[in-house]
Amino acid sequence: MDIVEDLNTLRAQVRAWRMAGERIAFVPTMGNLHEGHITLVREAGQRARRVIASIFVNPLQFGPSEDLAAYPRTPERDRTLLAAAGCDLLFAPAVATMYPQGQEAQTRVEVPGVSDLLCGASRPGHFIGVATVVCKLFNMVQPDLALFGEKDFQQLLVIRRLVADLNLPVEIAGVPTVREPDGLAMSSRNGYLSAAERAQAPALYQALTAAARGLAAGRPAPEIESEAAEIIAAAGLRPDYVSVRRAADLAEPAVSDAELVVLAAAYLGRTRLIDNLRVTRPGT
Ligand code: PAF
Repeated sequence: MDIVEDLNTLRAQVRAWRMAGERIAFVPTMGNLHEGHITLVREAGQRARRVIASIFVNPLQFGPSEDLAAYPRTPERDRTLLAAAGCDLLFAPAVATMYPQGQEAQTRVEVPGVSDLLCGASRPGHFIGVATVVCKLFNMVQPDLALFGEKDFQQLLVIRRLVADLNLPVEIAGVPTVREPDGLAMSSRNGYLSAAERAQAPALYQALTAAARGLAAGRPAPEIESEAAEIIAAAGLRPDYVSVRRAADLAEPAVSDAELVVLAAAYLGRTRLIDNLRVTRPGT
């Protein structure tokens, strides 16, 4: 696996692969890789001849009081895992490569509407940071296909809108969430949890499972949201939101909407966990 830090080398390799007619899949990450990321890389290898991954802890998507400095960085382990999963090239740019004019001066990309609710309401500016870095990475890598985990369901929708609105020639694939045996969605931030918190954390998934069951049984969304928040709070987490939304665009669902998603975020100590489950509501 090649490891590339500068844009010229990246572009030269991509050009060579393109000239050879090879399809390129891209998996952007912030490193500290887990089985969820590795699943994306393997899936990328199924769908394209060449796989490029990136590792860049993007300062633009962290709020001033968030965990940018503490965010886990495990470059050597990440490289070993990527190579073993069949990644051809790792792009690992420095902050100065991504934001040569500095972060403040950087042109930004804003996807209105879907960026402003749920996680966007709790983390102002977060999705501007995500959309900006993803747009830049797409322009640098120029992949045919890019893969993202469905655990970050709202992020996936923001990226789909970004690609549609700016006519970016990239196919976007969402890949199902990979879970620990007790249901906890894999996340780099799970590493922040103490042993006691790790034991509490699956309550988020349990609350979503109960909510999905209720929705599938045709129970009203508001009732289901408050019960799920109670399950989360009873386990000692502090719910940020639990919300039933239309899967296509995260709008409040109408009674006729069948394709739904129930999303939740909660704080556990200093860690913010998110998760979601898709539900098809019957008989509407
Ligand atoms: O999901 C992530 O790890 C990040 O938000 C992403 C998409 C790599 C952008 O920095």
